Amino acid sequence: MSAGPGRASFPSLWASLLPIGRDDRTGGYRRYSWTQEDAACRRWFTATAAELALRTDCDRNGNLWAWWDVENPAGPAVGTGSHLDSVPDGGAFDGPLGIVSAFAAIGQLRERGFRPARPIAVAAFAEEEGARFGVACLGSRLLTGVLEPAAARRLADSGGMTLAEAMTAAGLDPALIGPDDALLASLGAFVELHVEQGSTLDRLAAAIGIAGGIWPHGRWRLDFTGRADHAGTTRLADRRDPMLPYAETVLAARRAAARSGALATVGKVIAEPGGVNAICSSVRAWLDARAPDEATLYRMVDQVRAEAGEAAAEHAVDLALTQESFTPVVSFDPGLQGRISRALAGAGLDAPVLPTGAGHDAGVLAARLPTAMLFVRNRTGVSHAPSEHAEPADCEAGVTALAAVLADLAGR
Ligand code: GLV
Ligand code: MN
Ligand code: MN
Repeated sequence: MSAGPGRASFPSLWASLLPIGRDDRTGGYRRYSWTQEDAACRRWFTATAAELALRTDCDRNGNLWAWWDVENPAGPAVGTGSHLDSVPDGGAFDGPLGIVSAFAAIGQLRERGFRPARPIAVAAFAEEEGARFGVACLGSRLLTGVLEPAAARRLADSGGMTLAEAMTAAGLDPALIGPDDALLASLGAFVELHVEQGSTLDRLAAAIGIAGGIWPHGRWRLDFTGRADHAGTTRLADRRDPMLPYAETVLAARRAAARSGALATVGKVIAEPGGVNAICSSVRAWLDARAPDEATLYRMVDQVRAEAGEAAAEHAVDLALTQESFTPVVSFDPGLQGRISRALAGAGLDAPVLPTGAGHDAGVLAARLPTAMLFVRNRTGVSHAPSEHAEPADCEAGVTALAAVLADLAGR
């Protein structure tokens, strides 16, 4: 290994990634897939892997893998890692923490002279947030075959560029995207470390947690189409204003979520053509909905659909509702979870088990191989925003925890 221990330490690796894609005005990250910022993150990944003497490759779906190869392996590899892309103005930790911690854990294992019996792979999944092409966990969905390649190639960003065009511009061949059973078969388990996206660990005074499961969740697009007209001359009775049923739908979603013990969010809206002194011709909005179980989730979305439909009819506006993505409930592998708890206890770490409403690549992979997740305490409890924060000592605890888990799973 060419890197000294200092270079592979968490603080040094973290500092080297931190400036990439940060917006100086907001302090948030704008690392969208297949952009210049994404390319810079990918170069950072490859350079870091090289310093740790790991072999890097990019799979057919644009996911990066850094391999600690083993001669005559005792079994399939142990995968870890997360994603480098962000939501608009995202925090520094969601995604990158899992990758930096993985490299730092490997640095720690190398320093201790650990010799794995199975390969260890660090993954950086493409477009986990779906911030550019709209489908969360795009890279892992393609890898596992839950997203149809032809449909994925047609996904377009807000400027109309398709995923196929963006991948081609980045030097990949979009004709090759799709399920990769050989790669999946080479993995025996996958453990994703992630910043907690809430404050349960803080309340429990624990630095590290283990994920029990992920709530089912999905994204629905609402297209309200009305008629553009003059704001100063059109009588209220004559308007077909799509903004009105849109506004009623946002409130209906909030009420439905409160009634269901679930979550519903409208975080993105586009009003066209967007003149202050004109009634919009259309409003496009996205509903993100999550619930403890699928029946509750679908019931809540049906309620929102019904209320949106009534509001649209009342204002003579057309409405189309399209499901853009869906992730069923995820229960992580209980055997792997138990083994991880024991490995952490052996390292002196007591890690409570927590459910989460956030989506993750490990949740997508769970359909194909045993997966698990470690959470690191988030002192602000905020995520998908610049104030997301994990203290350096908690990040170090995460590295220690992940190193213990990798040593156990990949050891002799
Ligand atoms: C990913 O962070 C998600 O839960 O949307
Ligand atoms: Mn996220
Ligand atoms: Mn994430």
